[in-house]
Amino acid sequence: MTEQPVLDIPFPDAFQFDPSPTFEELRENRPVARVRTLAGAEVWLVTRYDDVRLVLADPRFSRAAVVRQGAPRVALAKPMPNSLTTTDPPEHTRLRRLVSSTFAHRRIERTRPWVAELAASLADDIAAAGDGADIRQLMALPLPIQVICHLLGVPYEDREQFREWTELGYSMRMAEAERVEQAMTDLTAYIAKLVAVKVANSSGPAEDLLDELVRAREQGDRLSEEELIAFGVNLLVAGHETSANQISSCVATLLRYPENWAKLVADHSLVETAVEELLRYNRFSEVGQLRVATEDVELHGITIRAGEGVMAALNSANRDPRAFDDPDSIDLARKENKHLSFGFGPHFCLGAQLARIELQESLLALLRRFPDMSLAKPALDLEWRRVLVSGLAELPVNLGR
Ligand code: HEM
Repeated sequence: MTEQPVLDIPFPDAFQFDPSPTFEELRENRPVARVRTLAGAEVWLVTRYDDVRLVLADPRFSRAAVVRQGAPRVALAKPMPNSLTTTDPPEHTRLRRLVSSTFAHRRIERTRPWVAELAASLADDIAAAGDGADIRQLMALPLPIQVICHLLGVPYEDREQFREWTELGYSMRMAEAERVEQAMTDLTAYIAKLVAVKVANSSGPAEDLLDELVRAREQGDRLSEEELIAFGVNLLVAGHETSANQISSCVATLLRYPENWAKLVADHSLVETAVEELLRYNRFSEVGQLRVATEDVELHGITIRAGEGVMAALNSANRDPRAFDDPDSIDLARKENKHLSFGFGPHFCLGAQLARIELQESLLALLRRFPDMSLAKPALDLEWRRVLVSGLAELPVNLGR
């Protein structure tokens, strides 16, 4: 066993723009560190690029094991069993195959013109709001919520309800612990009801992804009711929360360093590489992606025992000088940007291309419409949310001209 001190994670300097210096300290001196999660579990934290990729992709580190009895927990909410994120191959491969064609690059690109139109109409709302407009409320949240509602077949009118459940599901506030469990129960019941309506109306053509999954099940594809509901919950939550946070973070980072905003205003063709660079640079999670070791694994002289949890710190890997030149600088034209913000290995983000389209099109709409946009508050005074997936609570801007 180890004599290492145990650090509490999130670190005390979490929930702000720049990554905690503790990540750099661990990366250099203690690449496999002992940490205590908010849920009280002691797990390992890996912070170097190569180790993060190993933990995410090596079958000796399991996602299915995170829902087993007694497994270490990172957050207040219990992870949902039978979902993409809580299965290993071959179950994971079977589930992923059922949705992979919907999210395939070519098919998802067909949504781009519609997402661009949506972004342009949200830019109208921002113009109407005038100086002080909150980009989080007027663009970063409504855009991905409308996209995922449309794709999945979830009524957009229900957004306030499922936003509240999602917020609680990711909460890192101990005081909310009891409400977190209720929120996840309510969200699951909501999706179960929606699926039941879709089953009752399944004689017509499929209009959305949940319809398609209902029909796949009726036509004999192996998919249990729990798995179908878990798909709905997983896609609804994963499909908007991270995109919303990243849209805000991308705009905020560009405006915090206005020379970068000006560079993009002058050359829109940089948007693709800029989005990748901002995804690398921005915070994504205050903790790391959890896996549980299924056998003893030796890493940097430390034995991770079977049954122990290991968190892969994506943000830290993205700033590892072993993998990126000058990792703490923003280079909007960075080449061969192998950031890990969408993960790596079998659980690589299913919605990565959709997220890229959302980020690129929302940025383009803002750059075209508000080339002189600036922060309405000093960057370091902006408030961050205390949740698992890092994000700003607000993003007020002045529109210029
Ligand atoms: C900028 C936005 C996004 C970021 C940064 C992001 C990030 C990630 C990451 C890091 C993972 C891997 C987690 C792990 O290995 O433990 C993941 C998985 C996933 N993401 Fe995303 N995501 C984003 C947007 C989306 C969108 C728009 C969808 C919509 C469908 C989505 C759906 C999923 C799903 C279903 C998984 C689980 C995949 C699996 O386990 O096979 N994500 N995402």
